[in-house]
Amino acid sequence: MNAPTSVEDARAADKVVGEEVAETSEQATAVAMQDTLLTPRFYTTDFDEMDRINVEGVRADWDDLIARMVADPNKNHFRKTEDWDEVDWEGMEPALRKEFIDFLISSCTAEFSGCVLYKEMKRRGSNPDIVQLFQLMARDEARHAGFINDALREAGIAVNLGFLTQKKKYTYFRPKFIYYATYLSEKIGYARYITIFRHLEANPQHRFHPIFKWFEEWCNDEFGHGEAFALLMKTDPKLTSGVNVLWIKFFLTAVYSTMYVRDHQRPLFHKALGVDPDWYGQEVFRKTSAISTQVFPITLDIDHPRWMKGLKRLQKASLKVAMGKQRGGVIGTAQRLVGMGQAAVGFVSIYTIPAIRHEVPASSRMEPAY
Ligand SMILES: [Fe+2]
Ligand SMILES: [Fe+2]
Repeated sequence: MNAPTSVEDARAADKVVGEEVAETSEQATAVAMQDTLLTPRFYTTDFDEMDRINVEGVRADWDDLIARMVADPNKNHFRKTEDWDEVDWEGMEPALRKEFIDFLISSCTAEFSGCVLYKEMKRRGSNPDIVQLFQLMARDEARHAGFINDALREAGIAVNLGFLTQKKKYTYFRPKFIYYATYLSEKIGYARYITIFRHLEANPQHRFHPIFKWFEEWCNDEFGHGEAFALLMKTDPKLTSGVNVLWIKFFLTAVYSTMYVRDHQRPLFHKALGVDPDWYGQEVFRKTSAISTQVFPITLDIDHPRWMKGLKRLQKASLKVAMGKQRGGVIGTAQRLVGMGQAAVGFVSIYTIPAIRHEVPASSRMEPAY
């Protein structure tokens, strides 16, 4: 194990996660309500503009994708079967239990965030193609969030999704930013789920909870959602050219680095899975980058010497911010500001790594291959 999972960092991360430890549904919902740079947010956008998308230019691929979603191969997947082993929540090491619950709450919130956005687009839209797509995606995300909540319920807690819908803050993103951010979150979600699934397939002794057995079919839903956003971006070449390439680079950098920092806050969870979070991060970035060549003209150079250094710097800075916040007072505030400055420097150092350019294929269509 490398630096971020050293004992010292584990303790520091534990403190950060400890701040948000959830033992009741109220606490779990409070964790899900948090809006920081690192926690899943709810989004709203210009739904009228999105409703005006014309998919005629990608009609063949579009109809094909929609037909596969309508066929609904995962209709009965998100149910507990005999494969759902008994979970020994009481016997789980408390610190691991805390991190795992944090992981489940954060995953549930992220899944539900998709559900809320897609459902709203479906409700507001009048374009039959758009309405149908968003209804199908909302269906999937509701299942995903509900299934994670079922798993949480066995530990005696659940996120109050109705309350979140009403009370969680909504962040406005213009449609093009929704495309970049949501496309990436779907594809990175696929890459995360399939990487854990394949790892546990080869190392079943590390499968400490049955939910991981569900990840294979699950990630195919996310892959399909990503395909839909790739097609939406294909309808307008301007979205992936000119100055927008800088925005794409920004979103790639932000999404990757957020994942890295967030995962390093859960050292015990990754240790229990038998996964080095540095290896896991790079593996997920590699898969996401390979997939994103279907529509983005650039990928990040994650083998550049500055890349890992910058991520580690960001991670250390985020610990400093969290510890400063917890400490409070003048010293805490100073610590927090220093941390924020270091985070900004870390982000700039990775954002300015030259990107790798490549040709984008005429059709974005891709099959899940990992
Ligand atoms: Fe999902
Ligand atoms: Fe999804």
